[in-house]
Amino acid sequence: MQHLPLRKLVAVAMPASSAHRSLLLCLCLALPLAHFAAASPRDLLRFSVEDIAAVEAALPRHRASSKTTFFEVDRPLRPPKGSSGPCSTLLLSHSFAFTLTKPPVTAAYSPPPCLLAAGPRAALSLAVLEWRAECRGVQYDRIFGVWLGGAELLRGSTAEPRPGGVAWSVSKDVTRYAPLLASGNATLAVYLGNLIDDTYNGVYHANLTLHLYFRRAGRSTPPSAADAIVPVSRSLPLNDGLWFVVQNTTDVQSTRLAVPANAYRAVLEVYVSSHYADEFWYMNTPEQNGPFREVTVRLDGDVVGAVWPFPVIYTGGINPLIWRPITSIGSFNLPTYDVELTPFLGKLLDGEEHELGFAVTNAQNSWYVDANLHLWLDAKSTRTTGGLIAYDAPKLAGSIVSRSADGIDGEYDATARRNITATGWVSSSRGNVTTTFAQRLTFANTNVVSSHGSAQAINQTTDALNDVSGGDAGAQQLLHQSFPLYIFLGGDGSGTSSQRLMRRVELGFNEARSLRGGAEKSTLRNEQVAAAEVTLRDDAVVGASWKMHQTYAYGASDGGCYLRNVSSVGYDVLFDHHDASCAGKRGR
Ligand SMILES: *[C@@H]1O[C@H](CO)[C@@H](O)[C@H](O)[C@H]1NC(C)=O
Ligand SMILES: *[C@@H]1O[C@H](CO)[C@@H](O)[C@H](O)[C@H]1NC(C)=O
Ligand SMILES: *[C@@H]1O[C@H](CO)[C@@H](O)[C@H](O)[C@H]1NC(C)=O
Ligand SMILES: *[C@@H]1O[C@H](CO)[C@@H](O)[C@H](O)[C@H]1NC(C)=O
Ligand SMILES: *[C@@H]1O[C@H](CO)[C@@H](O)[C@H](O)[C@H]1NC(C)=O
Ligand SMILES: *[C@@H]1O[C@H](CO)[C@@H](O)[C@H](O)[C@H]1NC(C)=O
Ligand SMILES: *[C@@H]1O[C@H](CO)[C@@H](O)[C@H](O)[C@H]1NC(C)=O
Repeated sequence: MQHLPLRKLVAVAMPASSAHRSLLLCLCLALPLAHFAAASPRDLLRFSVEDIAAVEAALPRHRASSKTTFFEVDRPLRPPKGSSGPCSTLLLSHSFAFTLTKPPVTAAYSPPPCLLAAGPRAALSLAVLEWRAECRGVQYDRIFGVWLGGAELLRGSTAEPRPGGVAWSVSKDVTRYAPLLASGNATLAVYLGNLIDDTYNGVYHANLTLHLYFRRAGRSTPPSAADAIVPVSRSLPLNDGLWFVVQNTTDVQSTRLAVPANAYRAVLEVYVSSHYADEFWYMNTPEQNGPFREVTVRLDGDVVGAVWPFPVIYTGGINPLIWRPITSIGSFNLPTYDVELTPFLGKLLDGEEHELGFAVTNAQNSWYVDANLHLWLDAKSTRTTGGLIAYDAPKLAGSIVSRSADGIDGEYDATARRNITATGWVSSSRGNVTTTFAQRLTFANTNVVSSHGSAQAINQTTDALNDVSGGDAGAQQLLHQSFPLYIFLGGDGSGTSSQRLMRRVELGFNEARSLRGGAEKSTLRNEQVAAAEVTLRDDAVVGASWKMHQTYAYGASDGGCYLRNVSSVGYDVLFDHHDASCAGKRGR
């Protein structure tokens, strides 16, 4: 196996720090390779604010002055038929100016009167958390998180502002957090690390609103929320988000927790986002720990589950224009990942505290990880018991193979595979139930540098099969997720007066879910194909064009369905076809 250093592509926008303004966007082939060895991928795969300003200045004048609304394509949230509501409560309204390394903004939360009046939380049919925000001026995209009583409810990236201002909103189904919403007074915390100085003047103004819908007695099935949620995060007070920060490949961040003595099911919901040196981890060279990353979940040191993350590209990533106005999949509302811990309940039910932690395989600085432990409690007993029957978690398998004749052009191929299987029993008033959790994970990434280092293409697929079998009917689930990612960076005309910088991104979030032994099924295919081109003459930006096409197809055996086919060219939506007609059966 050859192991030649393939540098991260040279033909990408330069960090603003050293270059003269007119040289900011360049193919930069004349620069020695050594320069790039020192640059982090974040610098190479991001445009500076000067780059973006130069591009905006090259667009037709009227385009810059008006406010733009950015959006992430997702299916609309509809309460089950026969629901009443919404009952809406503003939880927080805040302007995030210089907030970096400061404590999160907090507000006292108490359950809205309509929720208390509705009685037991079984009456709640849908809870929606809406984040609505605006920003004007110059600013980078920022990561933010929302926590209630230490449990994370929402993680998102902000939209990068334009001179005329941007607005966006995201609505997330938070029905599964019903026990937190109903359980009494708690602290709501929002961290959005923003920086204000002479250059970056964009302040993020945000409103956070909770919308609740209620079932009428006897109508529709209650949502299958847990009975209690234990946060697996850092505690206030602190100067940052409540997430753990994982900085390197040996770093394990953990906390100690105990579970109620009558739990019969446990699911760990993991939140994860990648930043700085690992923001574009899938482009990383072998010297940067390669392109494979996973979050491992550790219970008293043992790997009990793995999360192979969807590659979320923030709104400033690769070429920010690509994500305007249709943002990248998951960027405004990052996906979370469930790990079934029920087979390990026997261990957790001993009345002692246990260590639950996270590591990130191959990590570079830094990954923000935390989780919520969802627990189902046996109302008819004060004590459940359990035991582990079988557990098999062999080491991660995989390799990186590099091939290059000249140390500039070449290819490297990375693969990874992991299986985890655990079976355990829990005895409660529901009987003695045996649950198996099995993960089958595969990953492949090819990275090809060509045209004397002026073009680079990566093609990656993450495939994750998570199977919960046996067990309580409500726990049974077969989830198959597949995350294809293709990125092309290139350009032409290097060293001449007329140059073009090109980007292409294809990204997919596809899943098939089957619940309750196959009685309920749903599928989602959510795919984006986007391209951008920036034209330079004598090193000055003279033009820019970009386009995006997204298709979203969701179908479920309960009659739920949503189709969207939307396309944009520049800041304009070219067409936007929705079809939720089959969802009408479920809507009110
Ligand atoms: C937040 O709510 C206030 C009060 O209703 C409103 O004036 C402001 O425009 C809202 N901001 C956003 C970003 O929606
Ligand atoms: C919760 O907060 C509300 C409003 O601040 C207060 O009236 C109420 O007494 C508190 N309830 C508890 C149980 O602390
Ligand atoms: C990894 O990160 C941890 C936590 O920040 C730190 O204590 C440790 O020194 C780091 N190890 C290496 C090899 O950098
Ligand atoms: C994982 O399990 C499957 C069968 O379920 C097997 O085909 C595959 O080789 C296993 N992979 C690893 C890395 O052990
Ligand atoms: C539950 O079943 C498992 C095997 O299926 C057995 O080992 C265990 O003793 C049983 N527990 C109780 C409390 O009956
Ligand atoms: C990426 O690789 C997959 C599997 O080899 C292939 O089917 C697909 O066409 C490739 N995508 C692109 C854009 O080359
Ligand atoms: C999306 O709409 C365009 C334009 O109407 C059409 O040409 C295309 O076939 C549609 N694609 C899908 C997947 O429906």
